[in-house]
Amino acid sequence: MKRLSLFVLILAGLAALALAPHAAAGFKPGAVWCDTDGRPINAHGGGILFHEGVYYWYGEIKEGRTYLPKVNQAWGGTRVLAAGVSVYSSRDLVTWKNEGVALAAVPENPDHDLSPENVIERPKVIYNARTRKFVMWFHQDSPNYQAARAGVAVSDTPTGPFAYVGAFRPNAGVAPLNASAEDLAPNPSNLLARDLAGGQMARDMTLFVDEDGTAYQFYSSEANKTMHISQLSDDYLRPAGRYARAFIDRSIEAPAVFKHGGKYYLIGSGCTGWDPNPAHSAVADSIFGPWTELGNPCRGEDAEITFSSQSTFVLPVAGKPGQFIAMFDRWNKWDLADSRYVWLPLEFDAEGHPVVRWTENPEFAQ
Ligand code: DGJ
Repeated sequence: MKRLSLFVLILAGLAALALAPHAAAGFKPGAVWCDTDGRPINAHGGGILFHEGVYYWYGEIKEGRTYLPKVNQAWGGTRVLAAGVSVYSSRDLVTWKNEGVALAAVPENPDHDLSPENVIERPKVIYNARTRKFVMWFHQDSPNYQAARAGVAVSDTPTGPFAYVGAFRPNAGVAPLNASAEDLAPNPSNLLARDLAGGQMARDMTLFVDEDGTAYQFYSSEANKTMHISQLSDDYLRPAGRYARAFIDRSIEAPAVFKHGGKYYLIGSGCTGWDPNPAHSAVADSIFGPWTELGNPCRGEDAEITFSSQSTFVLPVAGKPGQFIAMFDRWNKWDLADSRYVWLPLEFDAEGHPVVRWTENPEFAQ
């Protein structure tokens, strides 16, 4: 009898544990991170908007089976069907509430840019104080990543739903501010010149809003070889027609941009699909450059593979000037839905260069 009641007690304890919502007591880089409903946060390749005291985390919804489309077999680009962009909210950066789907995929129309067969990656949202609109930019692509376009969506509220505006190759018909005649010489290997009329290739991207409210899109262009820094129009809905090339032939993607002490900083990765590689960092006095590379900012175990992850965003902590969180994705290329998040404090060393140290238990609470 005694044994039976002990057994019942253990069973009841286990059941209570299983049913209890996972408390978001802290955050461990690379561990499953649950929202306030106890479900793993599904916001990959994401970015964060701080608006009226609330952080909004937007990211790729990765769910369902991971597959390798025939068109990507040569380079091993695995996929899940695109489900759209999620949004979560938080006041303390640790406890996240699922606010639903900010931008939904369009499964009913296979010809739509947002059809699940296509790619919706690296969404970033900024707020335009003039128009009072929330503007989302993301990487929109075909299943084989050859369309290489920038997608735009807009909403009156931070949680959406965002209305899809369209996708395009930026800066059609416009030469970069810093291009020489040689840079524009038409020859078969010059992708900048090839794409001058139709618009430049745009894959991994981020947005950055400067202190004067001017916004910029950073995107990996020219077959991921060179980054473009492209000013946005006053309403943030299209390119303003002023852009510069940076990191020429350096093959940097996954850009994350922030400003500190009047200087612009970039963290990025190399181009190896979902596989990790050494991170890059760089600094500039002017957003259009010249940019000076500062090497891999990561320190500690697995620093040479960016702690098995890839950059996506650097978040300035609200109300704490000089404090930043470097956000990375730890991709699981054979089960993309189980990709994890690695968030670490970003600091500056004695030379003023950004440094990201591996930390088991970072504290982000406000
Ligand atoms: C690397 C990019 O950074 C990701 O956003 C994604 O596009 C993968 N490549 C796809 O292989």
